[in-house]
Amino acid sequence: MANTEAWGSRVGLILAMAGNAVGLGNFLRFPVQAIQNGGGAFIIPYIVCFLLMGLPLLFVEWSSGRFGGSKGHHSTPFIFDSMDRRKFWKYVGVFGIFTNVAVAAYYCYLESWTLSWMWNSITGEFSGQTQAEVATYFGNYVSLEDGAGHFSWMPIFFWLLCLLLNTWILSKGLSGGVEKAAKIGMPLLLIFGAFLAYKAITIKAGSEGATFDGVVGLNFLWSPDFSSIWEPKVWLAAAGQVFFTLSLGMGSIQCYASYIKKKDDIALNAMSAGWMNEFVEVVLGSAILIPIAVGYLGIDQVVEMTKSGGLGLGFMTMPYLFEQWGPVMAIIAGVFWFGLLFFAGITSSLAMGTPVMGFLEDEYGWRRKPAAWAFGGIVFLLGLPTVLFFNEGVFDEYDYWAGTVSLVVFALLEIILFAWVFGMDKGWREITDGADIKVPTIFKFFIKWITPVLLGYVFVMSCPGIWDKIMNVDIYKAISETTDPAVLESLHTKLLYVNISRAGLLLLWLAIAYLVYHAYKKRIKEGRFTS
Ligand code: ALA
Repeated sequence: MANTEAWGSRVGLILAMAGNAVGLGNFLRFPVQAIQNGGGAFIIPYIVCFLLMGLPLLFVEWSSGRFGGSKGHHSTPFIFDSMDRRKFWKYVGVFGIFTNVAVAAYYCYLESWTLSWMWNSITGEFSGQTQAEVATYFGNYVSLEDGAGHFSWMPIFFWLLCLLLNTWILSKGLSGGVEKAAKIGMPLLLIFGAFLAYKAITIKAGSEGATFDGVVGLNFLWSPDFSSIWEPKVWLAAAGQVFFTLSLGMGSIQCYASYIKKKDDIALNAMSAGWMNEFVEVVLGSAILIPIAVGYLGIDQVVEMTKSGGLGLGFMTMPYLFEQWGPVMAIIAGVFWFGLLFFAGITSSLAMGTPVMGFLEDEYGWRRKPAAWAFGGIVFLLGLPTVLFFNEGVFDEYDYWAGTVSLVVFALLEIILFAWVFGMDKGWREITDGADIKVPTIFKFFIKWITPVLLGYVFVMSCPGIWDKIMNVDIYKAISETTDPAVLESLHTKLLYVNISRAGLLLLWLAIAYLVYHAYKKRIKEGRFTS
């Protein structure tokens, strides 16, 4: 059966694309990355990466998607195949399914925390707890413990609920599910975000228990610090954040764009969704978590917490801080903050479900319901280790390989395909065809030269770090520095789980590559041309 999905409206498409981009990365990852990389020193590389890599890649991914879609392909293996007949590209396209499934596997767990914390805010779980107690609650939660040393089902329950919600919405299709979720989620997210940002920046030292003004945190984030601006580490982090936040190098943008009609605009749409994401990231993303945390805890403690807390910072601090605003406000702020995170998360994880569904529908004639359940099932199996063995480093391992390295590798290869193999002249026609804006011709130069060179640079600079990761340098270093038998045992356990996770991810990639190979053979046998 042919894949007949389509977007219901232009607004719906833009909101879904913006929802794909706006995610937990905007509110949890961005502020932490900015602080870890010197606050004001981060923003200049970030903006440069956004303009020279982010925007050009948005044009590339939207236009390749629409191009492949016009030939009946909705996932990157066969979208790429339609751009060049060499067999190699299909297997590059495997990343566009792999990354989504592997990121969804840990992302849905993170997303489920937001549901759980929303529930806890309503039931008053955190009322009366100290900052340390809220942080301990988080530690117990990810250890699947209830605080009294017993196993807790709660994390598993909320994770399954989250998976079911994703699967159910995906089974309703693009216009009936994904688009509706974005139309409800995105406006609510903006309202919740605006309210919290207002509360954050109007925090006054000495009032409602705050020690500093909210703007102290904001200033800390944005005061220029040029001392570390030339450090490659800062540039790598900025590039990584631009990729993660815009959902570039994943394959989900191409998939969404493949459902756009041949002559419909992509240029203005891509810009609208991309800039909307930046607004949410730079304005709202920086005006909530850090100003509130700094207002109550001070800069030093927040900097310390970003070193170890990472994505968990928003869960370990905010409930306690909201309590300082009184019991009613604590509930409202808790529901708004974790609700905002939930909407941000689900509109992104839904996008991660569509490439694998598109593939199964296109290649094996699956209907969308079974395809959605297949995605849910895969994410369940792949995500289970991130839930059960969070402390053993499985979650972080997925985030590193699927959520960081894969994005850069895939983006580098796809821009070579687009600009140098498919050809820049053809590519430019794809970008400008049906465009409702005049795309500045400088982007032609960026896409052909600047973006690939920068991406190549980012990749080459990342190689030593990737190699160290492969060799488990950090873990071995920790092993060599300790004599405590308990710590040694936990490090050896971590080593084992980290290696198993990698093998699992590699197997997943190979399994998808095999399916692509099988689908290709099937196409040839059935006389269906691949492009
Ligand atoms: N772009 C999504 C985010 O920022 C994945 O979370």
